Amino acid sequence: MKRILVTGGNGFIGSHTSIVLLQKDYEVVIVDSFINSSRNFYERIKILAKRIDSNLLRRIIFFEGDIRDKNLLEGIFRKSANEGKRIVGVIHFAGLKAVAESLKEPSKYWDFNFIGTFRLIEVMEKYDCRTLIFSSSATVYGCSKDFLISENAAVNPINPYGHTKAAIENFLKNIYDSKSDKWRIACLRYFNPIGAHSTGLIGDNPNGIPNNIFPFINQVAIGKIERLEIFGNDWDTSDGTCIRDYIHVMDLAEGHILSLEFLLENECRFINLNLGTGIGTSVLELVNIFQEENKVKVPFNYADRRVGDIARIVADNGFAYSLLNWKPTKTINEMCKDGWRWQQVKG
Ligand code: NAD
Ligand code: UFG
Repeated sequence: MKRILVTGGNGFIGSHTSIVLLQKDYEVVIVDSFINSSRNFYERIKILAKRIDSNLLRRIIFFEGDIRDKNLLEGIFRKSANEGKRIVGVIHFAGLKAVAESLKEPSKYWDFNFIGTFRLIEVMEKYDCRTLIFSSSATVYGCSKDFLISENAAVNPINPYGHTKAAIENFLKNIYDSKSDKWRIACLRYFNPIGAHSTGLIGDNPNGIPNNIFPFINQVAIGKIERLEIFGNDWDTSDGTCIRDYIHVMDLAEGHILSLEFLLENECRFINLNLGTGIGTSVLELVNIFQEENKVKVPFNYADRRVGDIARIVADNGFAYSLLNWKPTKTINEMCKDGWRWQQVKG
């Protein structure tokens, strides 16, 4: 049974991926500082694991702490090695992701995202663990004008958050090039992950006021927030609102497992991979589908454009299909339904 370290495994994407890892017979070691999650949420992950199969609980280990703390990371790798259960790979989610905050506090983003990854690589080298899946982002493409963006598009981020992701990708490529017979690295460029586990037991659970549109819509629908502001209705799109490529978090989780298995089973390599559906949905369409699918009201008004936004960003996901046979299966309606179920369970 292979043991995988999941940094930030108590967050939105990390929690769903950890559940799928457990279901695929991996042992999962989560490290999370709770900077954007909570201990309660970890209890939910355990409840879900138990509901799926009580044996899964024996295969999940949690460490509370910050990945920038090298001693903590070393302790995790050492403990596993001493138990005779080496960590064979890392899925690295831990990081900060709010674009607006990154514009106000760039140093914080370089510290959490870049330094965090730097420390992780140092410790992975030391413990001879050289398989890594990194949470990159479509944000690295900046203002690409391509109708569908492929991995070959120029990397040209437009905010500090995006710069940290692009710099980490470059850093990881340098690490790979230095020992290309040892490292296996995939940088997964996610588009816009939304939705939740179909049980409603886990989902996106950001601390404080959400930055992303989907948890915001949910909190408006449940009455926690009065109304949604749609940032701009004068964009160069069919209805004037921005277009994004929304992807169900469970399809994304599956993409991680396939990437991990691909890396573990093949020769060493470095890959950048888009994970998106290839389908664009406008903000207005998303709000309307959410309302219709869930029979709820989401009051909104139009506001000024948000600094740093772009009109349209949609994935060319052909490479993930040809390399991994990965194809997202869930529709935008299912994303809205699952997300709302989670919001209602959470309250
Ligand atoms: P999230 O905030 O829900 O999860 C991140 C988790 O990492 C949180 O539980 C947080 O407490 C933890 N964490 C953060 N810094 C840490 C540190 N230094 N040490 C230990 N734990 C730490 O975010 P998410 O949506 O699950 O995103 C996961 C990753 O995917 C992030 O790196 C993010 O930049 C990237 N990403 C997210 C999106 C998105 O829209 N959700 C899109 C593209 C890329
Ligand atoms: N939006 C609103 N009102 C809100 C919040 C968002 O109208 O209250 C709009 C935005 O203007 C944008 C769309 O909803 O047009 C999506 O915005 P999000 O903040 O949910 O997502 P972004 O596309 O800005 O960025 C997200 C993640 C990044 C990631 C990127 C990849 O936040 O981490 O997707 O495409 F890099």
